[in-house]
Amino acid sequence: MKVIERLLLLSFVTAVTPGPHYRRRNNSDYLVNKLCSVREHIRGHCEPTHFKLTCRKGFADEWLNGIKHEISHLHVIEWPGKCLNVGQIQEHFPNLKSLEIINSTVLHSFKENFKATSKIENLTVHGLTSLWEIPPEIVENMKELRIIDLRGNMLRHIKAGLLRGPKLQRVYLSDNKWDCSDGGLDWLAMERDNNTLRKRIIDYYDLMCHQQLYRGKPLHKVMDIIWKIRHTCPMPCACTMTHVVSDAAGTVIPLITVDCAGRELNLPPANLPPSTTTLRLENNKINTIRSIIQNREYQKLADLYLDNNSISAVKELEGSEWFTTFRVLSLRGNMLKQIPVYAFDKAFQANNNIMHVFLGRNPWRCDCHFIPRFQSLLLKYKRVIRDLADIRCSKSSDKTTSLMQISTMPLGHVCSNNDIEMPISPINIVNLVLFGLILLIMGRFFYDWHNFKTTGKLPWLSSILP
Ligand SMILES: *[C@@H]1O[C@H](CO)[C@@H](O)[C@H](O)[C@H]1NC(C)=O
Ligand SMILES: *[C@@H]1O[C@H](CO)[C@@H](O)[C@H](O)[C@H]1NC(C)=O
Ligand SMILES: *[C@@H]1O[C@H](CO)[C@@H](O)[C@H](O)[C@H]1NC(C)=O
Ligand SMILES: *[C@@H]1O[C@H](CO)[C@@H](O)[C@H](O)[C@H]1NC(C)=O
Ligand SMILES: *[C@@H]1O[C@H](CO)[C@@H](O)[C@H](O)[C@H]1NC(C)=O
Repeated sequence: MKVIERLLLLSFVTAVTPGPHYRRRNNSDYLVNKLCSVREHIRGHCEPTHFKLTCRKGFADEWLNGIKHEISHLHVIEWPGKCLNVGQIQEHFPNLKSLEIINSTVLHSFKENFKATSKIENLTVHGLTSLWEIPPEIVENMKELRIIDLRGNMLRHIKAGLLRGPKLQRVYLSDNKWDCSDGGLDWLAMERDNNTLRKRIIDYYDLMCHQQLYRGKPLHKVMDIIWKIRHTCPMPCACTMTHVVSDAAGTVIPLITVDCAGRELNLPPANLPPSTTTLRLENNKINTIRSIIQNREYQKLADLYLDNNSISAVKELEGSEWFTTFRVLSLRGNMLKQIPVYAFDKAFQANNNIMHVFLGRNPWRCDCHFIPRFQSLLLKYKRVIRDLADIRCSKSSDKTTSLMQISTMPLGHVCSNNDIEMPISPINIVNLVLFGLILLIMGRFFYDWHNFKTTGKLPWLSSILP
């Protein structure tokens, strides 16, 4: 399918390049040129009525002999060729005011362009089920053109040049296969600032998008979204729509990716287009996530990529609302030595959206204080933390830990027996306190007992009891 598209496009491009160009090209071009002569289709059937000529399935020989000054209206119906040479049509019918090309299902390209001497006012093209695009050069020189009617073809794109005619008043474009998703119509979205060309499209509000992402969505709504994204996209970044959803009321909601990767940024952008879901900040110079976590505009962000920055701490994530709703967080290639393990555990547990977390290629601190807890976090969420193999201790002179993979590392490597540096947990504190109390009570008991033995005096407590 892709190949066929390319071929169509290719033949299209070559077919519409103006005449003199071909002399500099080689034989295969000459062949295309020769193939697109109106003389190839002279077995058609033509019916004249006064100044009007209707030809079906090609021309009849007699109408291509000489120049027919008297014809002002020409209908070309069911043209049998893949290509139609409009330069030759203008030569044979120099006084045309109206040209209609109808129901020609194999016709997908035009050859040559209308010249400045064209008197055509109305140009109508209907029912060309192979026609994807009309290059603006074809009509660019037409000084008298007033109406272009392109309804009912397979058009995907249109260029601004097609709408620029000095006398052009009305353009009809509905019932085509507009592709709003690949940027080919973005100029139309920008026309909102300067309504000159868009106003000529009479049926603008009837146009529908047909391809990919926007299939079945009204074109004008998509153009409004494209306009809005262009006007809210933060400065060095690029914004693209990755999905569109419609809510129950039919409102078209775009999901936007803002790509600020590799832009030498010290800070993330202060503003994001509404409904940005993905922010790419890889390969910048960002050293804190504070402005991300505290910015209200970032609350709806699902996926945040911060690879290859200089972030050394992520304390700010602790207790942040965003941390319990995000979907993807990548902190690969930063300067993290440790993270607040307990806060991560709590947030991951509460987060129902979480899909991927990346923590690899950071200089993790490998000591007995951090590693046991960090390792159990990594293992507990190993389905979410996707780059366990890259989460390694920082490089050091200690051969037992240097660049060791943390999730599989034996804890003995960081917590050796004679170097117990175990953190004192709350339960241990309670135990110590109780142990102390027991020692105190036993001491007191032995003291009292000894006292009684030597002096016969009862302890103070026993002496006041009845
Ligand atoms: C003509 O040009 C085409 C590409 O435009 C090339 O593939 C082909 O080999 C050329 N043929 C000759 C005879 O030079
Ligand atoms: C062009 O089309 C308009 C509207 O359909 C019509 O009024 C006008 O007469 C046409 N002009 C020519 C030269 O056919
Ligand atoms: C073009 O085709 C359509 C549908 O097949 C038909 O209704 C219409 O009459 C045709 N137009 C001409 C001028 O033949
Ligand atoms: C609109 O844009 C066209 C070309 O893009 C320019 O020539 C024209 O001056 C603009 N008009 C306004 C009102 O900005
Ligand atoms: C980050 O840097 C590493 C090493 O320079 C490179 O391999 C990787 O592709 C970078 N990541 C991104 C997302 O560009």
